[in-house]
Parts: sequence; structure tokens; C-alpha cells
Amino acid sequence: MAERLHNIPLLFLVLAAAVYGTDLPRPLFKSPLRAQDTEPAPGAAVRLQDSDPGLKRVLQFAEDRYNRGSNAMHLRRVSRLISASKQVVKGIRYSVTVELSNTQCKKSAMLRSCDFDPEPHRLKTEVCLFEVWDIPWESSSTLLKQKCEPKVDPEIEETNRILDSTEQVEEVESMKLLGQFKEFMVKYNKDYSTQEEVDRRLKIFHGNLKTAEKLQSLDQGSAEYGVTKFSDLTVEEFRSLYLNPMLSQWTQHRQMKMAPPAAQPAPDSWDWREHGAVSPVKNQGACGSCWAFSVIGNIEGQWFLKNGSLIALSEQELVDCDGLDKACRGGLPSNAYEAIEKLGGLETENDYSYTGHKQKCDFTSLKVAAYINSSVEIEKDEKEIAAYLAEHGPVSVALNAFAMQFYRRGVSHPLKIFCNPWMIDHAVLMVGYGNRNSVPFWAIKNSWGEDYGEKGYYYLYRGSNACGINKMASSASFVTSKIWFRQVGEIDLNLLSDNVTGYKAQTCGQRGSGRLRNADRESTNCKGHWKSRQ
Ligand SMILES: *[C@@H]1O[C@H](CO)[C@@H](O)[C@H](O)[C@H]1NC(C)=O
Ligand SMILES: *[C@@H]1O[C@H](CO)[C@@H](O)[C@H](O)[C@H]1NC(C)=O
Ligand SMILES: *[C@@H]1O[C@H](CO)[C@@H](O)[C@H](O)[C@H]1NC(C)=O
Repeated sequence: MAERLHNIPLLFLVLAAAVYGTDLPRPLFKSPLRAQDTEPAPGAAVRLQDSDPGLKRVLQFAEDRYNRGSNAMHLRRVSRLISASKQVVKGIRYSVTVELSNTQCKKSAMLRSCDFDPEPHRLKTEVCLFEVWDIPWESSSTLLKQKCEPKVDPEIEETNRILDSTEQVEEVESMKLLGQFKEFMVKYNKDYSTQEEVDRRLKIFHGNLKTAEKLQSLDQGSAEYGVTKFSDLTVEEFRSLYLNPMLSQWTQHRQMKMAPPAAQPAPDSWDWREHGAVSPVKNQGACGSCWAFSVIGNIEGQWFLKNGSLIALSEQELVDCDGLDKACRGGLPSNAYEAIEKLGGLETENDYSYTGHKQKCDFTSLKVAAYINSSVEIEKDEKEIAAYLAEHGPVSVALNAFAMQFYRRGVSHPLKIFCNPWMIDHAVLMVGYGNRNSVPFWAIKNSWGEDYGEKGYYYLYRGSNACGINKMASSASFVTSKIWFRQVGEIDLNLLSDNVTGYKAQTCGQRGSGRLRNADRESTNCKGHWKSRQ
């Protein structure tokens, strides 16, 4: 990437001069794509010099049309001319292949004065073929064809540098697609029973890559979308196998008690993985049991903070024994907490291990390793959720997971049209938050295995209620009292702690206010505290 990018200033100069400046007597650099000095047959397509006067106008026209038709936030400009040819057909038919990249200007700005985005990863360079039919004597230009794809890897590009006909573009595209599909099949161990199935999956794979491209070009964060282990599933299949239809009725869910407001504002960042409250990433398999994983993750954290030991607890117990929910066909965290209270606790993952399908309930109270007494709902406000999380441990949340099927890494910030905040369909565990290159994020533990996203985690933009992340935050607690104490000033939480938060906050051995102060958190003296309380 970097190696190719350093060409841009030079190319940009050439193009800027060619498009907007005076004619150049000769190209500034020797183009490997320049026409040979042989005389072309009449009517045949001829390769063009960079300084061809018609080419400038055509590039400008193509750029304008491209920007008018794209949904991208920023203006995009030609960053490199790959090849160009023209053919005389009742006017001139131009065929140009160029690279277009993001400028720093929003769409409303003037195209002429926009520099390219200095951040290579934000250039989002595309290779585009434009065919323009120009009739100079009628001052008319028509865009016959526009075909764009994200710029491919340098190795692949080197061998296919000269793309000057549609067929070649298409051939390269389908070869590239096949290569990606094969790689996908090997990486994720895919095995299709018939040739028809292979063809069908390839078609779906192709469609999904297009969706991923769209998400990519419109993402407002730093996420990378593309091939994932779900790339051969239609959106509907993905939904029914991995998501949770019951969550769409979240507005009707059982009313839970509201959590007391956090005692202190949220620190700038917090990550419970650094404090031992988060078990390794699990895998729900092709079963819509995310609700169980989300709630169990929360209780593992709560139990860790109460008891001092991190124990992997059983999701299968909920799949089998929680009659309020629908096992692999979805569930609601609010129901799950209630079911756990009624059952009398949870067995460990070891004692009651995950199978990914509903079985007869095999729970025994003799093996209970953790319990809860109640649950609370957290205010639908991201700042409040952050403060609650920092104070009380990982939080069960739900969101619209459309973009997650295509997510690979980075901070995902899909446009609302891809991520309707009212259509919640997946429950996960929020374990921390912070800023990555000044993009605020939530760190979200998912239950699709470690080979999903960033080692099993999904990072979502924080601060715009993206994908409805604020809609359904909840936590188990160990408090049964119906009366919540709102902390005012310097109340001695020693007397209230069990009633207020479920765990007695202590700072390095001393009992103190409801949450560790930042200074205490950062002090190395306090590190051991989280693991060995009392
Ligand atoms: C933690 O829980 C275990 C049982 O799971 C119990 O034996 C132990 O005493 C508890 N420790 C604390 C500090 O509560
Ligand atoms: C919480 O639940 C456990 C297990 O059901 C129970 O033994 C305990 O007494 C309860 N605690 C309170 C404060 O109600
Ligand atoms: C909870 O609060 C009540 C009222 O202040 C108090 O009497 C009780 O001892 C508290 N319970 C615990 C477990 O601290």
C-alpha cells in the first residue's frame, strides 16, 4: 500500500496539470501504457497519451458523474490514470481506467481545490472503468459505463496493470472472486455436497462481497468489512442461524428495575479484560442462543467481582431449562435473569457443557457454582452505560447485527440505513470502552468463536447510539431490595454497599466510595485487589 501511495503526489500533479492546467508538451513521466508509435487502423481503438486534450475533459466529466452518483461522504478524485483509449464512432468513445480516492472535502466543497486524504487507510481507493461517448461538435458527453471495484492487492495488480477493455476487467474480476472463494473455503473448512451448492454459495459469496464493499465505502469509523466465516450465507440464513428474533420484541420485554445511577462519571476508558472479569470467547454455533451467552458473560463478571474467582458458567443450562425463552430460537436477557433466579443458580461450563441444541433440562442444584438475586436495566444513555460498566462490571447489551456479518476489524460505525437502532437482533457482552486513534469505541465480546472479528471481539462506535447499542443494557445483581439508594455526596457505602451495588467497593484494601477512583485504578498497588478481595 505505502509503496504504491508514494506515487500519488506525482500522478496527482500530472493529472492536475492535464485536467485543469495548460497542456503539457509531453507527459511528465514515461507511461508504460503509452501507445506504441505504430499507426492504428482507421476506426480502431487507440491508446491515449496522458496529455491528450480530450482526455482531460473526459476525466473531469467522469469524476463529476461518479461523485454525483456515489453515496460517499467525501468527494473522490482520480488519483491515478491506469490506461485510456479512444475510438472514433460518431464522435469519440473514450475508455479510461483510473483510480479514484477520497479527498478531504465533504461533498458540498468545490471539487477543484480538494487534496487527497493524507491517511492512506481512508483513501478507499477504487479502480474504475469509465466509458464516455463524447460528441465534441454537439458539446455532449454521455456516460456509457461506469464500473468500479476496490483496489486489489499489489501482487494481483502488477500482473493486470493494463485493463483497457471491459472483458479484461470482468475476467480479472471473476478470477479474483474465484480465488477469494477458494481461499474462503479452505480457511473456514467449507465443504459443499454438490456442484450446484458450490455455484449457489459462490453467488451468495459474491453478493455478500458487494454488500461488504458498500458497508466499507460508507463506514464512518475505521472498520474493515469483507470476507468472514459467514460470507456464504444469505442475510436471511445468517439471521435465522445466528441472530435472535425474540429481541425484536424488546419494547415488550419484562419491566426490570432501573439500576441506580453510577456514583461517579465514567473514566475515559475502561476494559474489564485487564482486570480478569472476562472469560475466553465462546462459540454459540448455529443456534440463536446469543441471549444466553450475553447474560452468562455478565454473570461471570458479576460473580468474579463478588467472589473473586472467574468461573466459566453454563449457557446450556439456560438453553435447556429456561422455559421463558426459546432456546436456539431466541430469548431475552430479562427472562434469562428471572429463570436463573427461579432455578436457584448456574452450574459451571464444565459440569453442564454446551451442545448448541435444546435438550432435556439436566440442572441440579447440587452443582450450583454461582447465583444471582436480581437484575437491573441500565438507563438508555451511553454515558450512563459507560459509568455503570466501569463501576459494576461487564454489561449485557443488544444491538442490530446486520453489519456484523461482514465485519473483520476496526471500529465499526455503519450508516443508520444499515443498522436500524430499533431492529435489535443480537445480544452480546460489553466489556470495555475507550478511543482508538481518537475514534470512541465499545469493546464487545461476541459469541461466534475466536475466529470472528478481532479475536472474537467486535468494536462499535460509541457516542451515537450506533445500531441501538443503548437500547437494552442490563446486569444481574445480588440485591433483592426493591428500594434503591441514590447516592448523594459522601455516604458511607460500607453500610449500604450490598444494598446499592451488590459488591462492596474497596480501594486497595480500604472500603471506600462506590467505585475505585481513577487514581486508585492506575496505582499498581491496587492491581491485586480485583483478584483477591477481602
Ligand atoms: C467463591 O465461591 C466458591 C464456591 O463457588 C466458595 O467456595 C468460595 O468460598 C467463594 N469465595 C468468596 C470469597 O466468596
Ligand atoms: C440470593 O440468592 C441465593 C441463592 O438463591 C440465596 O441463597 C441468598 O440468600 C440470596 N440473597 C439475598 C440477599 O436474598
Ligand atoms: C441494607 O439496608 C438496610 C437499610 O439501610 C440495612 O438495615 C441492612 O442491614 C442492609 N443490608 C445489608 C446486607 O447491608
